[in-house]
Amino acid sequence: MAEPVIPKAFHDRLGNPYLVRDARPEDGAMMVELLNRVGHEEIYIADEAAQLTAEQESQLIGQRNADLQCILVAEQESHIAGSLEMIRGATKKNHHTAIFGMALFPAYRGRGMGRGLLSTAEAWALSVGVEKISLAVFASNAAAIHLYERMGYVEEGRRKGQYLIRGALVDEIWMARWLTRERR
Ligand SMILES: CC(C)(COP(=O)(O)OP(=O)(O)OC[C@H]1O[C@@H](n2cnc3c(N)ncnc32)[C@H](O)[C@@H]1OP(=O)(O)O)[C@@H](O)C(=O)NCCC(=O)NCCS
Repeated sequence: MAEPVIPKAFHDRLGNPYLVRDARPEDGAMMVELLNRVGHEEIYIADEAAQLTAEQESQLIGQRNADLQCILVAEQESHIAGSLEMIRGATKKNHHTAIFGMALFPAYRGRGMGRGLLSTAEAWALSVGVEKISLAVFASNAAAIHLYERMGYVEEGRRKGQYLIRGALVDEIWMARWLTRERR
């Protein structure tokens, strides 16, 4: 029998174990708290706050289509450290692609947990037949860009001055990685 893609167990850079697993409805409130927190920091994601209430998030998690959507959390010592949401293209034309967003609570950043979340999402993507994964990142987000480059993502394009962050114009970079054969 094939190995299940999710959950996956990892160790962070400090040697402490953590688990990447599918989000459950009861994680909804923490995921909303995370988005509010990261949105409030201003410099990492476009949204200023979570778009959904905790109840709506829980509902979305419970009702997600597992062929189109992967919602993961990283969990350490029963605490949610961060989450990643990957969505596959829903039409015949873009069904081979997926996009994602991810974030960790500040206390858990810089420990390698981003890699655990993304590699688990990539395994899901491969298992459902996705060939290409893309993401958008602020050009000022050096830590995120470094992680993506280390995981094989390359810049495909840039929207100049797409965001105004704390008074400065910041480019939006689109990055992508082909999981299967290069088709370009
Ligand atoms: C982006 C994020 C998910 C990455 O996860 P993470 O677990 O912190 O990342 P990792 O520790 O696996 O890797 C970060 C890498 O960037 C490096 N890095 C950290 N700060 C850096 C900086 N200012 N400049 C360049 N590289 C930096 C780290 O050394 C590490 O590289 P290494 O693996 O070669 O040592 C996490 O930091 C986060 O949640 N940030 C806030 C939200 C966010 O930016 N989300 C992404 C939006 S596109």
